[in-house]
Amino acid sequence: MRIKNLEDLVKIKEEYNSKMAEYNYQILVCGGGGCVSSKCGEVKEALDRCLKGYGLSEKISVITTGCMGICALGPVVLIKPDETFYTKVTPEKIAEIVKSHIINGTILEKYTYYDKARQLYIPNINDIPFFKDQVKIALRNCGQIDYSSIEAYIAKDGYFAAAKALSKMSRQQVVEEIKKSGLRGRGGAGFPTGIKWEAGLKAISDQKYFVCNADEGDPGAFMDRSILEGDPHSVIEGMILGGYAVGANIGYIYVRAEYPIAVERLSTAIEEARRYGLLGKNLFSTDFEFELEIRIGAGAFVCGEETSLMASIEGRRGEPRQKPPFPFERGLFGKPTIINNVETLANIPPIIHKGAHWFSQFGTERSKGTKVFALAGNVVNTGLVEVPMGISLGDILFKIGDGIPQGKAFKAAQAGGPSGGCITKEFLNTPVDYENISKIGAIMGSGGLIVMNEDTCMVDTA
Ligand SMILES: Cc1cc2nc3c(=O)[nH]c(=O)nc-3n(C[C@H](O)[C@H](O)[C@H](O)COP(=O)(O)O)c2cc1C
Repeated sequence: MRIKNLEDLVKIKEEYNSKMAEYNYQILVCGGGGCVSSKCGEVKEALDRCLKGYGLSEKISVITTGCMGICALGPVVLIKPDETFYTKVTPEKIAEIVKSHIINGTILEKYTYYDKARQLYIPNINDIPFFKDQVKIALRNCGQIDYSSIEAYIAKDGYFAAAKALSKMSRQQVVEEIKKSGLRGRGGAGFPTGIKWEAGLKAISDQKYFVCNADEGDPGAFMDRSILEGDPHSVIEGMILGGYAVGANIGYIYVRAEYPIAVERLSTAIEEARRYGLLGKNLFSTDFEFELEIRIGAGAFVCGEETSLMASIEGRRGEPRQKPPFPFERGLFGKPTIINNVETLANIPPIIHKGAHWFSQFGTERSKGTKVFALAGNVVNTGLVEVPMGISLGDILFKIGDGIPQGKAFKAAQAGGPSGGCITKEFLNTPVDYENISKIGAIMGSGGLIVMNEDTCMVDTA
């Protein structure tokens, strides 16, 4: 089927939702990178076997999702509509959970989230402190939908923004909306996305390119990987919108070779989008065409820098060059090129769909929206979080991250990768946004936060 307009999308959404409504339960198994490592595949197989044994395979839908965020407790499983969240699930535990929760209707509390401070189990995902203070825009579908199903993405209003922009908005209007939203690039430098797109739109050329930077080289960072693995269509839709706004009809997604799961899921998503006519010629019955290809990087840190990245796509050695000329003037193959980070692009569809004002209600005066952070190192809840800009670093590490394991003292958090810095305890009240983090000598960076405890030697770290 070729999707021609918004009505076609609404029809797919309704069909998918009514199919889902027929199931008594939906069991969501986290298939994020962390849970894959902690053997969620075996849990899923055991779950399928168990449901088959009870003759329930037709009544319960089992869905593998992208990262739910709390990687330290994987494999994790969410049962809907109850919203019960089970942690550290094994094939043996899942059999017990099915028997108690599904067959007998009793939540098996002992396998749900345990709050050590309050010494109680918290079965409902929405009551768990780790999730409560988060605001999910870029991660809106990660851990919520079947990453491999384009219909599941459409059922969450996916590709609605692309339909709206291509059929009702001019390129300039799309650019204006992104400018008004205040979105700044999430790849590290925080450059205003709308201004970059405006430069791309104004560039005059017979050919322009749109590039997604999925090189994600910062140590401890896995935000972009998780978005690509958990919600690849959000990045594809962001690129269609970006390509339309600046007038580019060819896009490249540059992914590092160390991300094979992301590449596999993204490739499937691109094929699915093509099958529905969302990539290729005459998108949404307009004369706009957009094609997308993946380019795999060899894993050089410097290839995350935009001019090196473009050299690498061209098949040359990945080395940076002087700017100007900026990529929007002379980029890939000498043509105007706009480059955005994965997380930046995942924010685009909801901005166009819900409007710039909706987006700019989150965040601070000069840093709008949210930021995804990857919590790694000496922190209890290692994993992936999305928080409104302006939240304090202390809240991220202690309220959401649940502090330092084994009651040890906090020493520092490394933010911003090699271009960033180590933030020490006197700065824990600093609001996290582009300006304030720079003032204390670090940078916001792309979102890797490596937490270090009192035992860490800062000389070794340096
Ligand atoms: C050494 C170096 C490494 C970089 N690595 C990355 C990276 O891994 N991912 C990324 O998105 N941006 C990276 N950047 C920033 C890019 O050059 C570019 O600014 C960014 O992709 C633009 O997208 P944005 O405006 O959406 O943030 C790096 C920059 C430098 C100087």
